[in-house]
Amino acid sequence: ENYEFIKVSKTGEKQNVGLIQLNRPKALNALCNGLISEVSEALNSFDTDKSVGAIVITGNEKAFAAGADIKEMVTNTFAKCVAEDFIAAWQLIANMKKPLLAAVNGYALGGGCELAMMCDIIYAGDKAKFGQPEILLGVIPGAGGTQRLTRTVGKSKAMEIVLSGNQVTAQDAEKMGLVSKVVPADQLLTETVKLAEKIAGNSQIANTIAKECVNTALETTLKEGLHFEKRMFHALFATKDQKEGMAAFIEKRKANFTNE
Ligand code: HXC
Repeated sequence: ENYEFIKVSKTGEKQNVGLIQLNRPKALNALCNGLISEVSEALNSFDTDKSVGAIVITGNEKAFAAGADIKEMVTNTFAKCVAEDFIAAWQLIANMKKPLLAAVNGYALGGGCELAMMCDIIYAGDKAKFGQPEILLGVIPGAGGTQRLTRTVGKSKAMEIVLSGNQVTAQDAEKMGLVSKVVPADQLLTETVKLAEKIAGNSQIANTIAKECVNTALETTLKEGLHFEKRMFHALFATKDQKEGMAAFIEKRKANFTNE
């Protein structure tokens, strides 16, 4: 595939990790429409590629992404946003079946922070900066910055971030649960790919169902969530991977999942 704004490859010892690197460095990876549609396209092809078990999205040392493209948005009108369903393409990213990891170095601001929050796990380099500066532009976050962020860090911190536009360091982001781990910037991609490889070695069916169950916790009551989880747990006993995983344990060998 020939992409203009991203680089796409497979990585890991078994080449089972899909890697998407945002590659619009001159604009700090500002998320123009072209970039977002390329990311959606690459994600969809990894999601349907049986050899890929997990996907990593990253940027460069200076920026994961500095937000939606302000130069592209400046002349938008309400009518145009509604008619063209601005931000609709982003929805695909949050609906991925396979585990999606963000490796964030540098700025993850506005839509960049929202893109990271659409991923299942965020690892950050020690110099990363997160923020929702839309308020400073006279608007508000539009792709999860008031919703996913609040569910993740709680009301007071979300309000402070959204209302002040202040940036949050990687270390503070980890403390508030936005980020699951902070690593030295130059080791970030290696560490993230290592985790992705571990996940990619699991049963892909179990991964997808585990992801759906965790996401269900954010959408429903505890009672409904527990019921859904229990039935999904039961359902996995219909897979070959369950037979293989448990047999491998008893035979003291490594499981070889076939995703069936
Ligand atoms: C378009 C951007 C951009 C953006 C940076 N650039 N961010 N272009 N949209 N979001 C461009 C600059 O115009 C500049 O291009 C080049 O990238 C380098 O940026 P500088 O500002 O010169 O770099 P620096 O001084 O290091 O400052 C870094 C920064 C700053 C603090 C990250 O760039 C910044 O504040 N960016 C905007 C952050 C922001 O407000 N994001 C939210 C956007 S709204 P030129 O050609 O001038 O050299 C949003 C809504 C999402 O995301 C809604 C859902 C889709």
